Parts: sequence; C-alpha cells; structure tokens
Amino acid sequence: MEQVHIEDRTFELFIRYESIKDRVMEIAKEISYKFEHLDPVFLPVLNGSFMFTADLLKNVNIKSSVQFIKVASYQGDSSTGQVKSLLGLSDSLTGKHIIILEDIIDTGLTMKHLLEELNKQNPASIFVVTLLYKKESLQYPINPDIACFNITQEFVVGYGLDYEGYGRNLRHIYKERVNSKQ
Ligand code: IMP
Repeated sequence: MEQVHIEDRTFELFIRYESIKDRVMEIAKEISYKFEHLDPVFLPVLNGSFMFTADLLKNVNIKSSVQFIKVASYQGDSSTGQVKSLLGLSDSLTGKHIIILEDIIDTGLTMKHLLEELNKQNPASIFVVTLLYKKESLQYPINPDIACFNITQEFVVGYGLDYEGYGRNLRHIYKERVNSKQ
C-alpha cells in the first residue's frame, strides 16, 4: 500500500517495515551487548511503542525484564499547561538499569516528564531509545541514546503510531501528504 486514508487525511509510504526491522535488529544487538550482565528493565511507553517493543525484545538475548508504562496527559491550569502522570509502574526501579522504549520524541515534553518521574526512584542508569526522533520539533532538550530514525516535522502513522486512534496496526510507517486535509 503506497497510500492510506485515515479520517480526513492522506498518508504516503515513508519507512518500509523491512527497513524498520533491519534497524530494530541492529539496535537489539547493540543493547544486548551494552547491557549484558546488567539485568536491565525495559520500560516500553504505551500505546505507541507496542510493535517496536515486540520486534525489539524478540531479538534481545540477555537477562532482562519488562514493565509497560503509560504517560497520561491532562490539562492543568493555564500556568502549568499540560500535566503528565506516569501509570503502570509496580516494581521498584531503585538501583536498576532502565531502558525506556518510546515510539516518537516530538516536542520532548513527554520524555522530560518521564525522566523526572523515573529519576525520583534513583535508578542506576536511564537509557533512552526512541523509534522516531523529530529533532527539529524539540522544545525541551532531550537527547536520546538511540534514535532508530531521525525524521523532520511531518506527522506519521503506522507501526504503532496513530492518528485519532487509527493506523496503529499498519505494518509500514506513513507520513502525512502535504495539503492532505480533505
Ligand atoms: P512529545 O511530548 O511532544 O514529545 O510527544 C510525544 C507523543 O506525541 C508521542 O508519544 C505520540 O503519542 C505523539 N506524537 C507526536 N508526533 C506524532 C506523530 O507524528 N504521529 C503520531 N503521534 C505523534
């Protein structure tokens, strides 16, 4: 499928699953090598990272555990803007080596809050892995340890990422076509 229509927008093929898979296998090797004997905890951020996580972890061959987390957003008052809270953490992360798996870093706000919350637990280290990195959109200084793909400011869907709740099941990553709104 070269093009998909979701709600009022049109998206075109951007990164094929085959390329994603190759890159994910590469970083799985890198992580396995770097964290061998460190018993890391993977923290995939739901919902967007579910496909990425499944492909990555199938290729990580070291002792490790996984805890899925979610960052809930709600509107604060006008001075605080958007407030984010961290859901899903059940086990203590004190002294643990954490590997965050995120689908996309856009403004960096979500990751900033996440890092602040996780640091409160005094982990041994925090390693940030993102599938997509929109460096030009950053409003907070977030520098991931691994960005699988650097992209510009286009809106993307597929491979876990959604538009209005749709498109997460798409195998490839698609980007919004210029003037796609119908
Ligand atoms: P940030 O807090 O601005 O970095 O945004 C992070 C969240 O915004 C991601 O976890 C996604 O849920 C959503 N997001 C940002 N850009 C895109 C996109 O291009 N497609 C789909 N979701 C996006």
